[in-house]
Amino acid sequence: MKTITLPVTPGKHNLVNYEETYSNFDWKDVEKEFSWYETGQVNMAYEAIDRHCETARKNKVALYYSDANRDEKYTFLEMKKLSNKFGNVLREIGIKKGDRVFVFMPRTPELYVSVLGTIKIGAIVGPLFEAFMEGAVRDRLQDSGAVSIITTPELLKRVPVTELPELKHVILVGNVEELQTGQVSYRDAMAKASDKLEIEWVDRQDGLILHYTSGSTGKPKGVLHVHNAMIQHYQTAKWILDLQEEDIYWCTADPGWVTGTSYGIFGPWLNGASNVIRGGRFSPQDWYSTIEKYSVTVWYSAPTAFRMLMGAGDEIVKQYDLSSLRHVLSVGEPLNPEVVHWGMKVYNKRIHDNWWMTETGAQLISNYPTMEIKPGSMGKPFPGITAAIIDNDGNVLPPNRMGNLAIKAGWPSMMNRIWNNPIKYQEYFAIEGWYISGDSAYVDEDGYFWFQGRIDDVIMTAGERVGPFEVESKLVEHPAVAEAGVIGKPDPVRGEIIKAFIALRAGYTVSEELLEEIRNFVKTGLAAHAAPREIEVKDKLPKTRSGKIMRRVLKAWELGLPTGDLSTMED
Ligand code: WT7
Repeated sequence: MKTITLPVTPGKHNLVNYEETYSNFDWKDVEKEFSWYETGQVNMAYEAIDRHCETARKNKVALYYSDANRDEKYTFLEMKKLSNKFGNVLREIGIKKGDRVFVFMPRTPELYVSVLGTIKIGAIVGPLFEAFMEGAVRDRLQDSGAVSIITTPELLKRVPVTELPELKHVILVGNVEELQTGQVSYRDAMAKASDKLEIEWVDRQDGLILHYTSGSTGKPKGVLHVHNAMIQHYQTAKWILDLQEEDIYWCTADPGWVTGTSYGIFGPWLNGASNVIRGGRFSPQDWYSTIEKYSVTVWYSAPTAFRMLMGAGDEIVKQYDLSSLRHVLSVGEPLNPEVVHWGMKVYNKRIHDNWWMTETGAQLISNYPTMEIKPGSMGKPFPGITAAIIDNDGNVLPPNRMGNLAIKAGWPSMMNRIWNNPIKYQEYFAIEGWYISGDSAYVDEDGYFWFQGRIDDVIMTAGERVGPFEVESKLVEHPAVAEAGVIGKPDPVRGEIIKAFIALRAGYTVSEELLEEIRNFVKTGLAAHAAPREIEVKDKLPKTRSGKIMRRVLKAWELGLPTGDLSTMED
């Protein structure tokens, strides 16, 4: 079948000739863009904010923020001073280079100031999604040995301080009646702090940010990224986001996920772009009015969001002035060709799909404005990146053969380690010289990559990665649940929804109330997005003789497919 390609976007773009650039590119040349190339003094936050204050950009707006109650803007100079102050607040209470400092709060300017201030003193930031419940917060703080957390009085209820002996300080953003031992008021401390700070200069391989992400087994793992990642954040934001001086950029992702930091903080600010942050929840009206209000030019979102916007219809699009948009991008899960065609119809824009992962730190495969798009394809590797489809023995496969999507190890933003888990880290590099993504894909004869699926059981629901093991573990904590197996069930809007199969303990009988209670148990114990939308009760679940739940069999049941080889199944 012949694919319909969408022609290149007319106009001026940062990356002019993909093929030629790809063949001549050297990451070493990008190093010259940073002040440390001359000074030898490295710090991400300095390059993202302070450096611009030595130029005319100092009075340019770095951050536009609004939510239902607030409407604010901050220049680069203001962000520099605020993050300096916060750096001093942390130093004052004894935080040092390498310490893990978590941020657990809604998307507000204070979150961005906290992240930058933490990085300025060389500490490692751990961002947490505000919807996480107690169990999710505890696992991440315990594993990383966090010493401080910045949160709000409302969210503090979900920080189990008594179970976290290493946690020494809680910095509270918002109104606090009375401070307990170990608590600091953000507002009071900021008011007293100096806006001059001696930045902690670090090594390029020193820790920057720790993002926890899910796999198919075990608890979430802490993916550590280092300051060196800025090389790739900068260059991909320049060529893939195509950020130019006049742009108003909006990334819809929360900083609890890697897209919200790599491309909600680092990439745009390293390029000196104005960054829009919209607090609150998704609604089509709210999103379109955000584009209109700020005259957003570059918009980075996710397939689920585009599918929900598509579901909201074409009429609503006409009620807003979206004419400022010039470049639209998507990441996180497969972008259906249907959505790309719809984007052409209603926005008259191509939606540019790109592929990467928490572990990769930055974009690796993408559609560029100056390249033809084949809807449904993730595009081509970024200059400096070698991507290939390999078999399980490490042989590179020819075009149109499905296999492991792998990347030649050693790109600038590659994760530096899995916190406390060197064995897990090595598993990604089991084939000499390659990073194995866990995705299956193929490449066509024109060099375009096509995503086929996950090789493991990881679930992608509404763009969020959920490990089935985490949900299963929570389910079996409920007194009524004897065993649980969790799979992703295909869903037209969310990509996948979480479906749980459970067996009940003796003495319990199925009822709607019980299932609702179990669903809520996961919701309040883990996170709303991790709670199963569907629960099906079985007498017993398919298990291997070693007792491992066979999710593959559950999936086959669900989809009405043959169950395949059952030789390892018990009974
Ligand atoms: C997994 C990584 C870093 C972006 C946010 C997700 C899937 C990502 C695409 C795409 C199809 C995609 C893969 C990948 N994924 N981008 N363009 N097309 N699938 O980061 O939570 O670490 O998840 O997301 O399965 O392995 P993440």
